[in-house]
Amino acid sequence: MLGGGFLAEGDAVKRLLLLLDTDPTPNVYDIFVGYDGGADHVVSYGGIRPGNVGALIDGAIFTRGPDEKKHTAIFIGGANMAAGEELLTAVTKHFFGSFRVSVMLDSNGSNTTAAAAVAQIAKAVPLAGKKAVILAGTGPVGLRAAGLFVKEGAQVSLTSRDKQRAEAACRLIEARFGRSPIPLEAIDNDARGAAIRGADIVFATGAIGIELLEERHWRDEWTIELIADCNAQPPLGIGGIEATDKGKTRQQKLALGALGIGGLKLKLHRSCIAQLFQSPDQVLDAEEIYALAKTMV
Ligand SMILES: NC(=O)c1ccc[n+]([C@@H]2O[C@H](COP(=O)([O-])OP(=O)(O)OC[C@H]3O[C@@H](n4cnc5c(N)ncnc54)[C@H](OP(=O)(O)O)[C@@H]3O)[C@@H](O)[C@H]2O)c1
Repeated sequence: MLGGGFLAEGDAVKRLLLLLDTDPTPNVYDIFVGYDGGADHVVSYGGIRPGNVGALIDGAIFTRGPDEKKHTAIFIGGANMAAGEELLTAVTKHFFGSFRVSVMLDSNGSNTTAAAAVAQIAKAVPLAGKKAVILAGTGPVGLRAAGLFVKEGAQVSLTSRDKQRAEAACRLIEARFGRSPIPLEAIDNDARGAAIRGADIVFATGAIGIELLEERHWRDEWTIELIADCNAQPPLGIGGIEATDKGKTRQQKLALGALGIGGLKLKLHRSCIAQLFQSPDQVLDAEEIYALAKTMV
């Protein structure tokens, strides 16, 4: 470094991650994993929408020369998947020519969690033509998991406690992944138990600490090959399996629990951050993150 503080030839250019959260407060998990993925510094902003993102992107794309741009990257987070997708579109539209940096979308860990889970499920049970039921699939993780199942050629159903929310979620998935799951209203555990009849795969993507199914609802369902849950906080999303299950056989079915998914999810998230800093032209969304997950599973 020169005395005046300028970068001299040969100085390492710092890897800067601009974290844009659609929620008011930037997510601490995403900030920490930003560092663990290799960023030297994470600059985070909350409450970011297409209408107020422009100046932030200008700051990210105009500050460094062409050879240095790969050392700047953008991460989009927040609890609202649709808001995250809109923000990603606004960010990439703002790029032009070589004035661009790599960007990743992972609202509420949606892409990394869904990719880690579906990659593990697909390795155990080939998905094409399989009947997959996503329980409480209206959150970010469920929306992305359902999309990846659709991409893999599964016959997907998605439940919500509210029919209109299920239908709205399925419309989002159709718009993004080209085919709509079947929307199902399931207001309680018994209704969700009815929704999984005849399924090959059950994946619970409900809110943290909420039980969606009891063991009695799934243990005698002979069609089910694999049952998975991504809620790590008791009560778990699916009774009768453990959070640490990773391909354990329970009631003659393969079981995958939240911590069984979470190990790969964290490694995947870190790897995605590291990959962002390899070139300035990447957009890491569901497909790209899922492709990486498949190489890691
Ligand atoms: N294992 C990992 O590495 C990892 C990483 C990230 C996230 N997660 C977990 O993944 C899960 C999904 O995350 P997310 O952000 O997508 O979830 P979310 O948006 O908080 O919730 C998903 C859905 O759960 C349903 N729900 C909420 N309260 C409920 C209740 N009392 N009874 C029944 N259903 C209820 C809602 O669907 P309806 O209102 O439409 O019914 C909601 O849309 C969470 O458990 C989260 O902790 C795990």
